[in-house]
Amino acid sequence: MLKISVLVSGGGTNLQALIDAQRNGILKSGRIVQVISSNEKAYALERAKAAGIPTDVIAPSAVPVREGGPLAVEGLLESKILEALKKFNPEVIVLAGFMKILSKNFIESCGAKIINIHPSLIPSFCGRGFYGLKVHEAVLNSGVKLTGATVHLVNEVPDGGEILAQKAVEILPDDTPERLQRRVMEQAEWVILPRAVEAVCKELSPKIFQYPVKYPGRGIITGCTPSGRRMLAYFIMGRSASSKARIFERSGDELIIKLTKQDKNFDPSLILYAPLRIFDGNIIITNGDQTDTVYDFLKAGKTFEEALRTRDYEPDEPHYTPRISAIMTPSGYKQSILKRAGKFFFEYKFEPGLGHFIHTYNNDVMPGKILPSFIGEPRSVKIPEDCEGFANSLWEELGPDYRVALYVRYYDEDGKYKDALFNSVND
Ligand code: GAR
Repeated sequence: MLKISVLVSGGGTNLQALIDAQRNGILKSGRIVQVISSNEKAYALERAKAAGIPTDVIAPSAVPVREGGPLAVEGLLESKILEALKKFNPEVIVLAGFMKILSKNFIESCGAKIINIHPSLIPSFCGRGFYGLKVHEAVLNSGVKLTGATVHLVNEVPDGGEILAQKAVEILPDDTPERLQRRVMEQAEWVILPRAVEAVCKELSPKIFQYPVKYPGRGIITGCTPSGRRMLAYFIMGRSASSKARIFERSGDELIIKLTKQDKNFDPSLILYAPLRIFDGNIIITNGDQTDTVYDFLKAGKTFEEALRTRDYEPDEPHYTPRISAIMTPSGYKQSILKRAGKFFFEYKFEPGLGHFIHTYNNDVMPGKILPSFIGEPRSVKIPEDCEGFANSLWEELGPDYRVALYVRYYDEDGKYKDALFNSVND
């Protein structure tokens, strides 16, 4: 999940719209980590505090006026804002009623995408001098019949960056600047800002798949976070009704699959199995009952490879689905795929921030056709520090059509873990 800093100067109703969007799930690819106000009296600060978001005030009154005049003050203010931003290093900055124009130098050095909400339909009534109520006064004086709001990216031209979203609002005969401002906020700003911020965060979020997801089938990821915590993920996708009627359930520290509907004519042997078992600190993850084979071999003092050499791809003609497996030990992990083309094993040491990803099919979905098996080596994936964010992104990337269940587990150093479990029956 990306980090968002919100810069404010006033009432903070747009900040509130973002906080609400975060609560009701519209804003899910980023979270507000910080609010910075250029005004110590801004009510936006109260809103941030009520939502438990850390705040900073960087107001011109706090900056001593030096010989350099107003420009030097602006420069000092900006460097103080940059300092405050460094506490969180946000990927996205939202100007939500922030009444200062940021310099080219600030925009280039902040290291984030900056999004602004402006209360008119850009390119009308925008640029230097057009802010807050002044915009609505100018709109009413001009006699136009339509105004609105614009969300745009910030560049060195005031209100001149790429437009991300716009919404029009009609002007009514008895409008005052205040009434019009309120309607533009309610009908346009609070609606388009959260959606545009979500779209930008989603676009910037690191992807687990390096290609658009079609039908990768079942998948295993093992690896470790930038700080060295071990992690694993296992997902299943399905196309048939019986395959879709499955759920993951925790069973102590292990995982089982259950059917939500029982079909008498249906043989569940290939879709009901224990995907995750643990023997003596070794974590076994597979897409079939070879989990038990590996478990039994380890118990008998034998290896992961010895166990899997006794097994084969699945007998589900015409696909011959590969069996994918992984084992994670305290020092590293192995992955394996048993295909018609052969039996393959891959071995890795833990590397901070890196994982490997193997899936059963080569990500094609052609109705009625044979599903081509995964080709090549496990893909390397970047592993972020936060379990929930990783799990949410993976579930999102799998898409609503075929995803069935996902389990993600992040270990702490002491062997305890955090986990996340999704079942599509709960979508
Ligand atoms: C909003 O109408 C916003 O679009 C505008 O200030 C108001 C702040 O309200 N921004 C600009 O004029 C920027 N040029 P809020 O503090 O309640 O969100």
